[in-house]
Amino acid sequence: MKIGIPKEPRVGQKLVAASPNGVGKMIKLGYEVLVESGAGASADYYDDQYEAAGATVVSKEEAWGADIVACLDTPPDAELDLMRQGSTLIARMNPWAHEEDMPKFEAKGMTALAMDAVPRISRAQSLDVRSSMMNVAGYRAVIEAANEFGRTFTGQVTAAGKTQPAKVYVIGVGVAGLAAIGTAGSMGAVVSATDVRPEVADQVESLGGTFVEIPVKQESADGYAKALDEEQQRLTLAVYTEQAAKSDIVITTAAVPGRPAPLLITAEAVAGMKPGSVIVDMGASELGGNCELSRAGEVVRTDNGVTIIGYDDLPSRMPGQTSQLYGQNIVNFLKLVTPGKDGILQLDMKDEVQRGVTVTLAGEGMWPPPEVKVSAAPKKEEPSASAEADHQLITDTSRDARTIRGLIWKAFLSVVAVALVVAAPEEMAQHFFVFVLACVIGFYVITNVTHTLHTPLMSVTNAISGIIIVGALLQVAATGDVAVLVMATIAIAIASINIFGGFLVTHRMLKMFERSSK
Ligand code: NAI
Repeated sequence: MKIGIPKEPRVGQKLVAASPNGVGKMIKLGYEVLVESGAGASADYYDDQYEAAGATVVSKEEAWGADIVACLDTPPDAELDLMRQGSTLIARMNPWAHEEDMPKFEAKGMTALAMDAVPRISRAQSLDVRSSMMNVAGYRAVIEAANEFGRTFTGQVTAAGKTQPAKVYVIGVGVAGLAAIGTAGSMGAVVSATDVRPEVADQVESLGGTFVEIPVKQESADGYAKALDEEQQRLTLAVYTEQAAKSDIVITTAAVPGRPAPLLITAEAVAGMKPGSVIVDMGASELGGNCELSRAGEVVRTDNGVTIIGYDDLPSRMPGQTSQLYGQNIVNFLKLVTPGKDGILQLDMKDEVQRGVTVTLAGEGMWPPPEVKVSAAPKKEEPSASAEADHQLITDTSRDARTIRGLIWKAFLSVVAVALVVAAPEEMAQHFFVFVLACVIGFYVITNVTHTLHTPLMSVTNAISGIIIVGALLQVAATGDVAVLVMATIAIAIASINIFGGFLVTHRMLKMFERSSK
């Protein structure tokens, strides 16, 4: 089948649905790829790169006329008209809000696959275009803030004096929020964050941030929040206002599925912020935003010197990277639906991921799909008293069985060791005794040393291997006995594996921490 990669028709859209690398992977899946001339130019992917990857560069009509068309968003009617009857469209469709597109797909007998409807389950993470986009957007939000902020993020001690690190406060710790926390932290800012889902506190702390408690806590089994009632809204706004006044930069990313962005920063909160502070409202859209004063796509400067960034195209401001990630999501999806790697797209409606993205199937309406049980934050089940008692009984029984087995083994090995010492010739008895003692001490040392100390332990074993090699060499020099020669050679070989293997492992570990010189 032919896959068309058209130039995005929407004015200002710099993204493209496949990088040259992604095109190569589509071809490996058996597809023929047709890229519209200039499709990737805004993302710095040029026609000759696509051709080198194996694609054919074609006209707009040919790209839209392919069997499968992969693009960013549902195309406007003019481009939809160029699509063939019965073809397949792979794009972001926001089918929750755009039911009016359904009849258009049905009329053309099309299969419409919404990449933004991939269920948020671990198996589908590699196809999740929303996560790819939000991740880049969270990063870019911090870069935009840094650009407007008139100071460095990191604190400095210079000959001219000391400067304090910037204080960044992130509200909403989803994909975008986590990316923002990680980025701001890595730039040296002091980061704090808040979410109505208390389970994200650990994630904030693991990124070096501080979780700011709020009086509203929502249990969430699916990783999404619910809308707040009036009283909850009042309580949370009080915290956000107080935190905003203490912060230099506020990044708002709060979202509730199917609802306009919740209000987090009121005009009053903005008025209480320090001059020079920056707000990035990621939720800013035509429908409103997280900040009362933000305007979609614009930068607003208030009378008290606060800059409010309302860009709604943050992923598109990093077109090369976002296109690469989006294109890889499409490739991962194609891998799923091309089991034969024969260039034939086969949808399996029993698969919850494939069913989840299917808006229409050969012209038949399929939206909405059945609900998918997601496991973003599995709820810990409290064990019942009887289950706990049963579990205790099973644990005790298996622990007893393990202890008995261990004792039998120890007794058996002790008998074998004593028998060897007694049966050995007199001059060997002393060696056996030392050997047995070494085994016992070695066993206890290795099993009782914690994993984190295994590296220094390896150095000790390397030293022991060195002693073995010296001993074996002395034996080789002192004897003409073939059996001793063979034993000494084996000892040298085995001890050398330990020493040189140790060097190799250490070398590989050091390489992992090396910065690339490029
Ligand atoms: P997400 O659903 O993963 O995370 C949103 C978080 O907000 C959730 O953790 C939720 O618990 C939290 N939240 C909801 N209501 C809250 C409240 N009242 N107080 C505190 N926390 C609250 O969403 P994701 O993927 O991280 O996206 C975040 C936002 O960024 C969305 O609004 C999205 O539309 C927007 N976005 C904006 C872009 C731009 O260019 N400006 C680009 C990409 C995304």
